[in-house]
Amino acid sequence: MPHSIPDIRSGDVAMPVIGLGTWQLEDGSAQPLVERALELGYRHIDTAQIYGNEQDVGAALAATGVSRAEIFLTTKVWVEHFAHGDLQRSLDESLRKLRVPQVDLLLLHWPKPRPALAETMAALNDVRDRGLTRAIGLSNFPSGLMAKAQAASEAPIATNQVEYHPYLSQKTLIAKARAIGASITAWSPLAQGKVAGDPVLIEIGEAHGKTPGQVTLRWQVQQGVVTIPRTRNPARLAENFDIFDFALSDAEMARISALARPDGRLGDWLDKAFEWDVE
Ligand SMILES: NC(=O)c1ccc[n+]([C@@H]2O[C@H](COP(=O)([O-])OP(=O)(O)OC[C@H]3O[C@@H](n4cnc5c(N)ncnc54)[C@H](OP(=O)(O)O)[C@@H]3O)[C@@H](O)[C@H]2O)c1
Repeated sequence: MPHSIPDIRSGDVAMPVIGLGTWQLEDGSAQPLVERALELGYRHIDTAQIYGNEQDVGAALAATGVSRAEIFLTTKVWVEHFAHGDLQRSLDESLRKLRVPQVDLLLLHWPKPRPALAETMAALNDVRDRGLTRAIGLSNFPSGLMAKAQAASEAPIATNQVEYHPYLSQKTLIAKARAIGASITAWSPLAQGKVAGDPVLIEIGEAHGKTPGQVTLRWQVQQGVVTIPRTRNPARLAENFDIFDFALSDAEMARISALARPDGRLGDWLDKAFEWDVE
């Protein structure tokens, strides 16, 4: 039997604490993987306009026996569609590909200086008011910009999806998100696979009969952070989901957090000029 997954309160919605990430699954592989994940008990799927696989995710949602109401579906608006009107049109297209009338969460994929944040937040609120998404949120927003986005929005920001793994501290952002009632969602939660060879994570895993990947994902959910690991490997789909039958001690949690280092960021590719939170 699949585990039932805990939820994390995020703005005005509850998000299943673990989901399947689908970045780079753009060769048709997303459909079978999403279907298999849903069979295993995953109830949260993360896609984006730019991933080129909304159509495949939609095919999986149409084929699965799991009801739509049980699945938390996130997509992200790409930066080219941030103007009022463009954003709405791009969501119409996403909904058509996903074969659903509404997503659960719509994120702005990366911050962008123009159009003005107020214009984009108004468009995001508009699609929420019209029921095309249940909730709205951000991705890759440093804490100062996150606060500005919340100030420009009537609806609560549900989550800010950012890079987060043992090699990158997000202490400031996690605290600031919590203060506005939002969650953090960890992207590249496994540091793109790098955690697998880490001696500290291996040692902690051995004490629990778990892999370094499972220890890492457990460390995230135990902090109240949503996590969205990605794999092409069906065996690892099950492995990554099997993190609800053990707990890390406070000392183990602290030991993992201490792996963070100043050069741990992997994903600064879009705009190196962002003023990320220092830790
Ligand atoms: N908002 C954003 O800007 C943004 C940016 C990046 C990612 N994301 C989201 O976050 C999701 C996850 O991030 P990600 O795809 O960059 O990286 P990730 O989940 O940290 O790592 C994926 C890599 O780790 C390997 N892996 C998976 N499970 C493993 C395990 N248990 N042990 C060891 N290795 C394992 C996978 O290889 P195999 O396939 O061989 O298992 C794959 O190479 C994305 O798919 C996407 O949905 C969002």
